[in-house]
Amino acid sequence: MSEAKKLYIKTYGCQMNVYDSERMAEALGGQGYVETQSPDDADMILLNTCHIREKAAEKVYSELGRYKGLKAAKPDLKIGVAGCVAQAEGEEIMRRQPMVDLVVGPQSYHRLPELEAKARSGEKALDTDFPEEDKFEVLKNRPKAKRGPTAFLTVQEGCDKFCAFCVVPYTRGAEVSRPADRILTEARDLVERGVREITLLGQNVNAYHGAGEGGDWSLARLIWALNDIDGLERIRFTTSHPNDMTDDLIEAHGTCPKLMPYLHLPVQSGSDRILKRMNRQHTADSYLKIIEKLRDARPDLLLSGDFIVGFPEETEEDFQDTLDIIRASNYGYAYSFKYSTRPGTPAAERDQLPEDVKDDRLQRVQALITQQQKAAQDAMVGKEVGVLFEKPGRLPGQMVGKSDHLHAVHVQGEGIQTGDLRRVRIVDSGRNSLAGALVA
Ligand code: 5AD
Ligand code: SF4
Repeated sequence: MSEAKKLYIKTYGCQMNVYDSERMAEALGGQGYVETQSPDDADMILLNTCHIREKAAEKVYSELGRYKGLKAAKPDLKIGVAGCVAQAEGEEIMRRQPMVDLVVGPQSYHRLPELEAKARSGEKALDTDFPEEDKFEVLKNRPKAKRGPTAFLTVQEGCDKFCAFCVVPYTRGAEVSRPADRILTEARDLVERGVREITLLGQNVNAYHGAGEGGDWSLARLIWALNDIDGLERIRFTTSHPNDMTDDLIEAHGTCPKLMPYLHLPVQSGSDRILKRMNRQHTADSYLKIIEKLRDARPDLLLSGDFIVGFPEETEEDFQDTLDIIRASNYGYAYSFKYSTRPGTPAAERDQLPEDVKDDRLQRVQALITQQQKAAQDAMVGKEVGVLFEKPGRLPGQMVGKSDHLHAVHVQGEGIQTGDLRRVRIVDSGRNSLAGALVA
């Protein structure tokens, strides 16, 4: 047997890219590739890119620049660009950077084996189609090797919402949901391989409406079916749109035993005027009402959000509304970004705010968010939570894992194994993590 070829994948951006990178590595596994952690000994380097904010393409070019020496020393080294930048600017990348052998978009990576063969034969290989066939059907036989206790599982892709700032509807295409039985089979396989927590992924995951027994299933129905899988202990999902937060899903947060008390529900702005200009199709008030219902269903729900500051036409008053909705929502985690123009999206054509105004607002929003995050973390002290242990900590005898609310928790404890789910009392709150002690 010939020696295995080595594949180095560098992943940027969201959790779906993490999942896609896994699947791409598996697809190339059939071509004799095994993964390596370093580009230096790789036979193929694949950059799985993100296009959500500015400078994405520049980052790709500067990363490619670093591989010039490697490519010169090893002419057989193949270099590929995958993901959303590949989708948006694939042809341009091939033109501008001749060292790139292969470009593959997020909907066509099941064709990687053919593309790799083409690249190996010395031709340039580019595929940024939105093909008819379902990539997950083509790639359905996943390896059986043991793996860590947590996994991502894509259930839905693409977006039909067209927020005025967002490239996703263009790079990932229209909303598509995978059939429920395929997801359940993949989940059972993951559990057999040692997985105890699954995070369901979709750009608009709560708009899930995959074909299932008796007709289309909602996300809540899918979650309830996953809840029945023995050995699966925890279910999460991300990312959701407020308008798809249906009553059955809200209710599941109160009643479904394996659904964790954590929800990422971006609102982006607290100003109705800006929300309208963003084409979000909801108001600040309707968002707050949804959170209220969620917290009625699950009082200890930890909420997470995304915010864009400095969107075109945002005034100081609009920005104050954003700070107000953050105060009213009381986030456990929140992520904030300066608006960045994305080619081809409606808001990119509008008058832009000065950079210093955006910088100043970002700083202020981040100060408030940091305060809230710390308060939410500190409030866990004294509480008892479940912790799924993922790896050894830095100190001898220490293990670290994630709480039900997704806080990092470290525990000093003899005999705790990776993959154990244990009850833990939180005893201290540090900078970015909690300290806990096993409950006997
Ligand atoms: N500029 C800044 N932030 C953006 N996001 C999406 N598009 C842009 C943009 N053009 C943010 C949103 C989204 C998160 C994934 O990225 O807050 O929820
Ligand atoms: Fe982008 Fe999310 Fe809006 Fe869809 S719902 S356009 S993915 S921000």
